[in-house]
Formats: sequence, structure tokens, C-alpha cells
Amino acid sequence: MKRRKILIIDDEQSLLESLEMFLSEKGYVVGCALTANEGLEKNRSFEPDVIILDIRLPDMDGLEVLQELRKNYKGKSVIIITAFHDMDTTIKAMKQGACEYITKPIDIEELEEAIGRALKLGRSMHGADALSLDPSLTYEKGKIKGKSRVMKEIFKSIGMLSENGVTVLIEGETGTGKELIARAIHYHSPYKDHPLLAINCSAIVGTLLESELFGHEKGSFTGAIATKRGKFELAGDGTIFLDEVSEIPFELQAKLLRFLQEKEFERVGGEKSLKSNARIIAATNKDLRQMVKNGIFREDLYYRLSVAIIKVPPLRERKSDIPLLIEYLIKKINSELHRSIRKVEEKAVNQLKNYDWPGNVRELENILTRAAIATQDEVILDDLITPLLGKKEDKDRLKQDVPNILSLQEVEKEHILRVLNHARWHLGKTCELLGISRPTLRQKLKEYGISPALQMP
Ligand SMILES: Nc1ncnc2c1ncn2[C@@H]1O[C@H](COP(=O)(O)OP(=O)(O)OP(=O)(O)O)[C@@H](O)[C@H]1O
Ligand SMILES: [Mg+2]
Repeated sequence: MKRRKILIIDDEQSLLESLEMFLSEKGYVVGCALTANEGLEKNRSFEPDVIILDIRLPDMDGLEVLQELRKNYKGKSVIIITAFHDMDTTIKAMKQGACEYITKPIDIEELEEAIGRALKLGRSMHGADALSLDPSLTYEKGKIKGKSRVMKEIFKSIGMLSENGVTVLIEGETGTGKELIARAIHYHSPYKDHPLLAINCSAIVGTLLESELFGHEKGSFTGAIATKRGKFELAGDGTIFLDEVSEIPFELQAKLLRFLQEKEFERVGGEKSLKSNARIIAATNKDLRQMVKNGIFREDLYYRLSVAIIKVPPLRERKSDIPLLIEYLIKKINSELHRSIRKVEEKAVNQLKNYDWPGNVRELENILTRAAIATQDEVILDDLITPLLGKKEDKDRLKQDVPNILSLQEVEKEHILRVLNHARWHLGKTCELLGISRPTLRQKLKEYGISPALQMP
């Protein structure tokens, strides 16, 4: 295999020498420069794969050097070395596209890992083994993505159901896109210019929920200081989205049933019957039929709600949608976080495809967002994804109380984790609290297999 080339630009002769020795021993071809100008010159003649750049140089400002280096970027990655007091510069450097930064004194293991990542990044930027985003496609808010057979069926249902005003029940696990579907039905309907009002039935309790939905008359209960119109009145000819409909209290279910049967209702404390033309779309992640069997959800209401049913399958049952979703969600993240991620390494895509997704598309979006935040690059690499997916058993175990007698090592691991979580994974602070050096902490993290995936929720 072709030996990789590394260019080191640093004005500290002794550091330069020891790095050169260390990296040559590791099999790299190493070039050195003591000044910015020499470095820029060598960048052209030596054509390194990775550049290690000290941000403080005698002849030129480090950020300018970085900009110059970036001009003929060609996939090479720049690792910045800085002292702690250069924090502002570091932030600027990261914004300008340095791929890593390392603080002095240099932890050689940290540097080696950074070089490994930088090389991989260079390859991914140019290699074919990555999912590339088509730059001409822009992110459109509210789109439902999917090309699996079940999703195509759902698109058909949305089309059909948006034409008529029947009540729809959308069933699916958390994060599968139920609300997105409800909105799509409304915005494709002839009533799209009328309001779409969403209400989460689990978020509000008892009388307050009743008043939210149906309104109340002044003085009907403590706190009802003025007459208030409810969602059914406000929605007019539009749509009401009843999210988590399973959580409607039993007493209120009768009132909702009456509305579905007769389009009539009264405000809380009111006597006059009011009418509303609003369409109802309800969603649930619980099994309503089972609730009917258990006697906690009215059977007649269930039938009224489920005139049409859309069942949204969990993501793990439509894994062929994952690449398309990744592409779409990255575009969404780019647009919302002002990022410009262009590729996801194929290995990362495979990892995402193999995961079980208990939190479905929402969880996929969260993981991608966290990966996007954690990287400065235009590529999402798989070792960024690995710790985010984590192991389920680890998380479960962490939540439990200490079960029985632990070994000293287990106690140490638990304690390190506790401090890490306390310090929000700030490694510097963690070292300070634990009274150990950074290399020691790194070694222990490795030894115990501690990664950010073990973070407490
Ligand atoms: N097919 C899809 N295409 C694009 N984005 C999707 C898709 N499905 C879900 N999402 C996104 O995932 C997130 C969760 O979707 P949504 O809120 O509609 O799920 P939900 O089923 O209502 O979840 P919950 O039961 O937890 O309320 C949203 O950000 C949504 O935009
Ligand atoms: Mg929802």
C-alpha cells in the first residue's frame, strides 16, 4: 500500500523532531517545516495527505495559513495543534474547516487517532464508498420520505383520504411519522386553507383537556375567568389532530363520541349546543383494541375513530427506506444547523441499516443530528456513529441500582461514568475532578470500553 504522507508545520524544533521520529516509525513519510512560508511551499511540492499545523507561527497568522492550505484542498485534512489559551482561534479554525484540533502538550495516542481519522476522511471525500448527497436537491419541509412498498401504500391512502373528510386513525410506534402523515392529509385536502389544530391528549389532564377541546363558559370552574372557545370551534372547517388519543379520559370519551356522531357539543359549563364541521384525525402508539378489551377505551368510540385506519410500520420493518431517509434528514440538518455535510460513509450507512431503531425515524434523526454536531467535516464517518448507537444492555444496566457487591474495577468504571456524566463529558473537567491525567483517563476509557453512548439520558 502507498505510504501516507504527513506534513508537520511547527516552529518548535524539538517537538518537530520527536514527532517526525515517532511518525516515521509508524510508517508514514514525514515532511517538516519550521515556518508558515516553508510549510505552504512544502504543501505544494510534497503533496501530503494530512497536515499537522501549529496555529502559532512566527511569520504568519495560523488562520491565514489554514486558509491558504485550504485553497488547494484536494481532500487533505488539517490537524491543528494549539495551546489552551488559543481557544478563540481554535473555534475559528474549526469553522474554517480544520478537521481536528489537539492541545499541547501533545498526547501522542490522541494525535495518532486524529491522523487515522484524518486519513479516512480524505479517502471518504474522494472514494466511492459513501452515500453522496445530490447537491441539487433541496430540503422541503414536511415531506414524507420512503420508497418501500408499505410507504407507497401509505402515500396512496393519504391521497385518497385527503379528498374526503372521513375520520382517520393513524396507528404506529413512537417516531414513525404519524403527525407528518396527519399533516399531509390536511395539506392535500380541499380544506387546506382552514386551520389544522393539533392537541396532544396526554399533555393535558381532565377538565383542562375538555376545555381545550370544547371551550368553557366564564365561571364554569375555578380559573375560568372568561369564556373561552375550544379547538372544535376554532378549527371551523379545518382539521383537529388528536395526538395520543388513547389518553383521553373515559368521561371525556363520551363527549368526543357525541361529536363524531352528531357534530355537536357544548362548552364546559355551557348549555347551548354548538356545531363544528372540523375533521378529526387521531393518532395512537398504543393498541386501542386491547384497551377496548380491557375496558378502558370505549368500543363505540373506537369504531367511530377508525373509519379509516393507516398503520405505519416501524422503521425496522422497512429498512430499505433508511438510505433515502438518511439523505433527506441530512439535508434537513444541513439547512437547520447551517451545515454542509455531503457524504455519509458507506460503513456508517450499513451500521444504521443494521440497527433496530426502537425510536424509529425520530431516533434516526437524533442520531444523525448528534453525529453532525460532533463532526467538523463534510463526511459522517462510521466511528462517529458507533458510540451513538451504543449497546442496549449497557444503557439498561446503567439505569439499575448497584445490584450486589462489585469489584474494585467495576466501582472504578461506574465512578468514572458518573463523573463523566456530571461533567457532561467534558474530558478536561473530568480529569480535574478525578485527579488524573488525560492519558490516564483515555487509557481507562479504552480499558473499560466507555464511550459517549453510555451517557445517562
Ligand atoms: N417518512 C419520513 N420522512 C421524513 N421524515 C420523517 C418520516 N417519518 C418521520 N419523520 C420525521 O421524524 C420525526 C418524528 O415524526 P412524527 O412526529 O410525525 O412521529 P410520530 O409518529 O407522531 O411520533 P410520536 O408517536 O412520538 O408522537 C419528525 O421530525 C418527522 O419529520
Ligand atoms: Mg406525534
